[in-house]
Amino acid sequence: MFSDLLINKLKKATTVAALTGAGISAESGVPTFRGEQGLWKKFRPEELANFNAFMKNPKLVWEWYNFRKNLISQVQPNPGHHALVQMETYFQDFYLITQNVDNLHRLAGNKRIYELHGNIMRNRCVDCNKQWSDTLIDEENLPHCDCGGLIRPDVVWFGESLPEKEITKSFEVARKSEVFFSIGTSALVQPAASLPIEAKRAGAYVVEINFEPTVITDYVDESIIGKSGEILPSLIRQIINDQE
Ligand code: OAD
Repeated sequence: MFSDLLINKLKKATTVAALTGAGISAESGVPTFRGEQGLWKKFRPEELANFNAFMKNPKLVWEWYNFRKNLISQVQPNPGHHALVQMETYFQDFYLITQNVDNLHRLAGNKRIYELHGNIMRNRCVDCNKQWSDTLIDEENLPHCDCGGLIRPDVVWFGESLPEKEITKSFEVARKSEVFFSIGTSALVQPAASLPIEAKRAGAYVVEINFEPTVITDYVDESIIGKSGEILPSLIRQIINDQE
């Protein structure tokens, strides 16, 4: 399933990075955004995932986030998430960059994570940015900050900037990694979608793991078609076993 080139590179590598998208959590039961079963088939991003929509109808947006929080609270990390924890232990420098807000990488045990699109378990004030803990928000009685501002989910919506430190670090990491994985992402949403491109430009061996080909498949060095929850455990097993 894996080329000898990839296995040899991984055995020698000290700096490895992985970018994940919704596909890594699909086997845990979290729906992806695009595709036939995707969330954006049933819901309209412009009504739910943007700041103006929230200010216009915070109740509706909170209903949607509560629905997703509730769903996420009932699922567990899958073998794909766990394999990425093993990678963090195995490689001297391993960086996990995720577009997911579902907190499953943290729950699995990864420590060095750059969350590009925020985290659904955190909230913050729209005015002063104060962080608020994750109590389930009552849509009928929307909570406000001490300063009077509405409390919103601490996620990145369409048209908003990504957290400065996370995105800067992610590009740094992409440029210095020897092997860079793009896992379970359609690679359509910028700036995250530029990370594998930037990694390759800087000399990394770029590997895509996805259920189906994507817009970057022809560009990457190696494309592995299949479920991340099966491929990643098999990959890390092979590296560790060969080493013993
Ligand atoms: P998408 O829904 O666009 O893409 C999910 C990808 O996962 C697809 O390419 C699938 O083929 C693949 N996939 C599904 N199941 C898989 C499995 N078991 N193993 C491997 N691959 C699998 O999700 P993202 O690329 O994460 O942004 O979307 C990026 C951003 O768009 C999200 O973070 C979100 C969304 O709008 C914001 O909300 C800001």
